[in-house]
Amino acid sequence: MDTALAAPAGARDFLRSECEAVHHRLDSRLTGIDFDDRDAYAAMLSRFSAPLTAFESALEAGAAARLFDDLSERWRARPLLADLHDLNGRFDRRQGAPIEDEAEALGIMYVLEGSRLGGRVLARRAAESADPAVRGATRYFRHAENAGHWRSFLSRLEASEAVRLKPERAKAGALAAFAAFEAALA
Ligand code: HEM
Repeated sequence: MDTALAAPAGARDFLRSECEAVHHRLDSRLTGIDFDDRDAYAAMLSRFSAPLTAFESALEAGAAARLFDDLSERWRARPLLADLHDLNGRFDRRQGAPIEDEAEALGIMYVLEGSRLGGRVLARRAAESADPAVRGATRYFRHAENAGHWRSFLSRLEASEAVRLKPERAKAGALAAFAAFEAALA
């Protein structure tokens, strides 16, 4: 039975603590990749494509489209495709089933939007690569870096009555998204 989030524990703090372990595993896994090796870098980006396109299409077809009028501006499939085109990497496009539950949709978006923060770290590493093709293929990690998407997402998350009443659904969405990225990057 869902127990509503009691103030002042915000939704982000709740999701961050529930996702800390898997985030740490992903962080360690990606930190171990050699960004001077073009094939290794392209393989990492390629593995992002399946979970990213599955979740973006599932959100677009469900509740998220009612929650954000700038949803398509947040999507990163196109910049990822452009990076992989430059690196001759494989882009694996998937179609996900619509996610109608608001709390679950916001949990999944927490992972997609939150990963922009780590993306900045990875973009800086790529910019220092010995390989010019890697240095040029950072559109995915740098997407809309000045648009404030993370901040505006957090305000929508904290304002969601659905998340406040059903935090376990948001947690389930976030952990499912992390698990999909972890499986893809395994
Ligand atoms: C080497 C790889 C990664 C690094 C270095 C990294 C680094 C970071 C950093 C520095 C933050 C900000 C933490 C804060 O403000 O307290 C962050 C947040 C976050 N990252 Fe990562 N990250 C990585 C990979 C990923 C991946 C692959 C995903 C998901 C697919 C992800 C999802 C998130 C999420 C959801 C947050 C928001 C956490 C919060 O609520 O603050 N990260 N990451």
